[in-house]
Amino acid sequence: MGALTLTSIEKTYPNGHRAVKGLSLDIEPGEFVVLVGPSGCGKSTILRSIAGLESLTGGEIHIGDRRVDTEPPAKRDIAMVFQNYALYPHMTVYKNLAYGLKNRGVEATEIDRKVREAADLLQINDYLDRKPQQLSGGQRQRVAMGRAIVRDPQLFLFDEPLSNLDAKLRAHMRLEIKKLQRKLSATSIFVTHDQVEAMTLADRIVVLNGGEIEQVGTPRDVYHRPASLFVASFMGAPAMNFFSTRVDGGDLVLTDGQRLTLPAEQRPALNGVTDITLGVRPEQIAVTETVRDGLVTFDVGMGEELGVSQLLHGQVADAEVVLNLPKFERHDEPQLGLSWPEDAWHLFDSRSGQRL
Ligand SMILES: Nc1ncnc2c1ncn2[C@@H]1O[C@H](COP(=O)(O)OP(=O)(O)OP(=O)(O)O)[C@@H](O)[C@H]1O
Ligand SMILES: [Mg+2]
Repeated sequence: MGALTLTSIEKTYPNGHRAVKGLSLDIEPGEFVVLVGPSGCGKSTILRSIAGLESLTGGEIHIGDRRVDTEPPAKRDIAMVFQNYALYPHMTVYKNLAYGLKNRGVEATEIDRKVREAADLLQINDYLDRKPQQLSGGQRQRVAMGRAIVRDPQLFLFDEPLSNLDAKLRAHMRLEIKKLQRKLSATSIFVTHDQVEAMTLADRIVVLNGGEIEQVGTPRDVYHRPASLFVASFMGAPAMNFFSTRVDGGDLVLTDGQRLTLPAEQRPALNGVTDITLGVRPEQIAVTETVRDGLVTFDVGMGEELGVSQLLHGQVADAEVVLNLPKFERHDEPQLGLSWPEDAWHLFDSRSGQRL
C-alpha cells in the first residue's frame, strides 16, 4: 500500500469544466513527486482535491489504507504550502508557526519545542519575533515551510512555492527544500510549471496535459525517453528540435528532400508508420563546417551567447532549429553540416504524437 493512492480521480467544476479526467497515481512512502505541466492542466486542482479544499466528482483518495476524500480537510493530516505563503500578517513568525498546533490543543511546552526545532532546521531562529512584512521573500517562504513542518503531517503538498522568488533565491530554496525533504523523509507532492524545478527536485515526475497524465517517470526517463511529442517539447530548455519526415526504405526524408539514414536498431520501431516526427535535443547536435553527404544541411541564423554555452538558431528544411554548442564557436559560413549520435534519435508517430 502506497503512502498516497489516487484512484481514477475526477474533478468537474460546477460550470461544467472537466479539470481532472480519471487520474490514477500511487506514491511511495518518502517519495518526492513533482506534478508538472502548462498553465490550466489541473495541477492545483489535483493538489487542492488531495488537501480537501475541493471535493472530487469521482474516484477515491487513500493515505495508506485510510480513505480520505470523504473526510474533512482537518482530518486528512496533510500540510500544504502555497505560492503566496498565506502567512497571518498580524502575527509574529513564532505565532504563525504555533497557531495550527495551538488550535489543535497541543500543550504549550510541546508547541514551543516543535516551533524551535522547525526554526532551527530552517534557520529562522533570529526572526521569530518579527512580523511577515519584516521578512524577505525567501524568509517568508521558510516560515511557510515551517508551518507545515511543525504539524508533522503524513503528506506535504507544495503549490508553486518558489514562483514569487527571484531566480537566484529560487535556485537556493530549491536545494533547501530537497535537503529538507531528504532529512525528514517526508512524502511530498510538489507542483510547478518550471521544468528545471521538476527535473532537479523529483524522484518521479508526473507530466500532465489537459487533466490527464502524459507520462510518469524518473527525471531521466522523462528527459531521455519522452513518451509523447507533448512531453518531449515540454521538458528541456531550449526545447527539443522536431523535423517532419516521411519514411522511405531505411531513410527518413525531410520536407526538402534531404535523406537521413535511420540507425539500424531504430528501424523495427517504425512498425509500418510512415509519417514520423524526428526529435533531437539541441545539446546533442554536433556541427561540421563542411556540408557533405550523411550530414544534415543547416542554414545558419542568429547566435546567442549564454556564457556556459552558445545557442545557434537556424533552419533545416522547413523546421526552426536551435543548437546548444558547448563552447564558443565562431561560424561565418552560411551553411553547416549537422550530425548526432545514435542515441539522440527520438521517433514519434506524427499522427498520434506517441513515441515509437
Ligand atoms: N473554480 C473553478 N471553476 C471552474 N473552472 C475552474 C475553477 N478552478 C479552476 N478551473 C479551471 O480548471 C482548469 C485547471 O485549473 P488549475 O488551477 O488546476 O490549473 P493549474 O495547472 O494549476 O494552472 P496554473 O499553472 O496556471 O496554476 C483550468 O482550465 C481552470 O480554468
Ligand atoms: Mg495552479
